[in-house]
Amino acid sequence: MRILVLPGDGIGPEITAATLEVLRAASQRFALDIALEEDIVGHASLSKHGVTVHPAMVEKARAADGLMLGPAATFEFRDEAKGEINPSMFFRKTFDLFANIRPARTYPGATGKAGAFDLIVVRENTEGFYADRNMEQGNSKLLVTKDVVISMRRITRQCCARVAHAAFRLAMQRRKHVSIVHKANVLKIGDGMFLEECHKAAKEYPGVRVDDFIVDAMMAHVVRDPAKFDVIVTTNMAGDILSDLTAELSGSLGLAASLNAGETYAMAQAAHGSAPDIAAKNIANPFSLILSAGQLLGWHGERRQLRTFTDAAAAIEQGVARALATGACTKDMGGALGTRESGAALALAIAKA
Ligand code: NAI
Ligand code: MG
Repeated sequence: MRILVLPGDGIGPEITAATLEVLRAASQRFALDIALEEDIVGHASLSKHGVTVHPAMVEKARAADGLMLGPAATFEFRDEAKGEINPSMFFRKTFDLFANIRPARTYPGATGKAGAFDLIVVRENTEGFYADRNMEQGNSKLLVTKDVVISMRRITRQCCARVAHAAFRLAMQRRKHVSIVHKANVLKIGDGMFLEECHKAAKEYPGVRVDDFIVDAMMAHVVRDPAKFDVIVTTNMAGDILSDLTAELSGSLGLAASLNAGETYAMAQAAHGSAPDIAAKNIANPFSLILSAGQLLGWHGERRQLRTFTDAAAAIEQGVARALATGACTKDMGGALGTRESGAALALAIAKA
């Protein structure tokens, strides 16, 4: 198993270093024989190659079994003509990673912000309001005059259906409940199609309970009682926003794990950004990326029926749970450890367990 590792900007290199330590410990303990190959994206790549994602990364990533991407300073990348490409968009689009799977759960002994819960947001990842990924070539936003912008949103039946099925398959392994989140009351055609395709998919999973919520009201429902949700499926931008909320409700955005999954490829990536406000201070919580790396191992384990990989994924999640229960974590989760130290403590716990 080979993983290409791209640390990114801001806190990216710090949380990546901590994650690599944990991955090495898990690889050794479960005899996974993982090879980790590092390269660069973001500002480091812009300075060195004149582009935030070098085109050679496509083949490098394809040659690997999976990808681990750190957060990038995407707000600073404005002009593709100047090599300023959003690395998330680049890999999601290139590898058609259509389901962004974002778990959010509380842990015993660690304080969540709205009681105990365990849910997963499944976000459509390849179209919607994200104009930079809607077209084969070009961009679905237009500067009509210097004061007028038109942004178009693409919604396709096929993309709605495939993300819906991803959500229902996940629910089958969990508490068999899918909540569809949409804005079909206003975006009647586009979100109407999303809602329709989700309900159509539901018919193939008769044991799964289904309900649906309008996205604005959903914010109230999830803050009021996150425990009533299991799997939530939604469109790209709604899922982007909702999943930061659910991560913070679980304790901290620093726990926000995610896996970008396609049919044959997956990319681990923390759901948050490059957090420039806390970068280079050794205070960022690395558990977001560590849990994402665990998801990647689990994904491979399930696809290839490799028990050692699913065991390693479970050991990482249990290790995080123990660390949070004992305060062996960063200060956003009430601990006193730095980024490096919390990664090292978790790696040691996994190696010894
Ligand atoms: P952010 O997600 O980087 O940070 C939001 C807040 O959460 C900040 O207070 C930050 O300190 C905190 N936070 C984030 N990760 C944390 C962690 N691991 N541990 C503890 N606290 C954490 O959002 P922001 O500041 O709006 O964006 C910063 C940059 O990241 C921008 O350039 C943005 O475009 C980019 N971005 C990149 C993403 C990606 O590459 N996947 C995703 C989201 C934003
Ligand atoms: Mg986001």
